[in-house]
Amino acid sequence: MSFNKDFIWGSATSSYQIEGAPFEDGKGLSVWDTFCEVPGVIKGNHNGNIACEHYHRYKEDVALMKELGLQAYRFSITWPRVMPDGIGKVNEKGLDFYDRLVDELLEKGITPYVTLFHWDYPYELYKKGGWLNNDSPEWFAEYTKVVVDRLSDRVQYWFTQNEPQCYINLGHCDGTHAPGLKLGVRDVLQCTHNSLLAHGKSVATIREFSKLKSFVGAAPVGICYIPKTETPADIEAARKATFAVNDTRIWNSAWFMDPMFLGEYPEDGLKLFEKYLPKIGANDMKIINQDLDFFGCNIYSSPYVNSGLNGEPEFTAQKVGADLTANKWELTPRGLYWGPKFFYERYKKPIIITENGLSNVDWVNLDGKVHDPQRIDLMHRYINEFNRAIKDGVDGRGYFAWSLMDNFEWAEGYNERFGLIHVDFETEKRTIKDSGYWFKQVIETQGKIL
Ligand code: NOJ
Repeated sequence: MSFNKDFIWGSATSSYQIEGAPFEDGKGLSVWDTFCEVPGVIKGNHNGNIACEHYHRYKEDVALMKELGLQAYRFSITWPRVMPDGIGKVNEKGLDFYDRLVDELLEKGITPYVTLFHWDYPYELYKKGGWLNNDSPEWFAEYTKVVVDRLSDRVQYWFTQNEPQCYINLGHCDGTHAPGLKLGVRDVLQCTHNSLLAHGKSVATIREFSKLKSFVGAAPVGICYIPKTETPADIEAARKATFAVNDTRIWNSAWFMDPMFLGEYPEDGLKLFEKYLPKIGANDMKIINQDLDFFGCNIYSSPYVNSGLNGEPEFTAQKVGADLTANKWELTPRGLYWGPKFFYERYKKPIIITENGLSNVDWVNLDGKVHDPQRIDLMHRYINEFNRAIKDGVDGRGYFAWSLMDNFEWAEGYNERFGLIHVDFETEKRTIKDSGYWFKQVIETQGKIL
């Protein structure tokens, strides 16, 4: 296998999932802090109050990243840590934390990739209506400027938001994630439109105020479909399914990504949502459609489709005894071929895999090590497929493993382990898993050992 010398290898985390310290140094509450207090919404009533204690152990964690040989680290910033009310007052102590983290990374030769929003929305803004409030795009731009003013003399790589499909749908439609709302289609579409505008304004803010040349991307859930067989008919069916908008839950790629990359909502969605569409201002699509440097995709498990009646996509039933991860997601490595391929064809931007990995059954063995051959095998298979996509012409620029370490897996609490590093949540002891050492070799050889 071959990856060119500029291909970036890294790992990713998010603030609420690892930081802990929700009430320290002037931080304001986020909707995840308050959501987790509701009995029964999170498995085991877990919460992120302690998590990996990364807020206090970041130096140890950066040292571990160095030990893994990571070239880049993708992390997110807690908006209400930096601005306790979401807007207005800036909390210098909160900003200082990210300042120190960035310095520590750079000192160890690790490039920071900053995600501005990975779901921990300021509770004070939620009380004002959150994403339903039409001022919310401006709020996000104001917050972006504060972060950019402080970090952009050292940070060049930015993502505006992580997986908008998730926090909009799970948080505002299904109610299984914070803030736990079950809104109707009209309101969900309004939230979506505001979140898209927020993305656009945030990109414009980064471009305007960045002290160094900035590279900006979006990091959606890479919702994509795999052709059952690689025949032209099945491939076309998978392509259609990947960009179709036919679900009022808005779980798709095109409704979110077409506006960002192409400057328009997709036709089929406009028809489907005709009765519920929010007011779209004359300039809105222009604001949303900023020039981006890359398309980041978070890809884990993707369904198979084949060509059915009239070439329409038909969902292929999961095979009996399919290979499943600990949280029952099917192993579908070809998603890392077809997802990037379809996204590259449509949006024509370099692709970075911003998340990929699995939840596995990991514990510290009698020999003091964590043996996780399944993670090594899964990553190996997926990276192979991404390499195949690159060989077939996709401009693939990087791969970030999810996650650096075991952490708080949202509604699943601490029951899922996604890390390259094992965390004992009672002692906070970190142990690099076999997969971590394997990934180190992948990085050292720039993929040649694969
Ligand atoms: C996507 C999310 O960005 C991340 O927060 C989550 O932990 C992983 N996928 C695994 O579910």
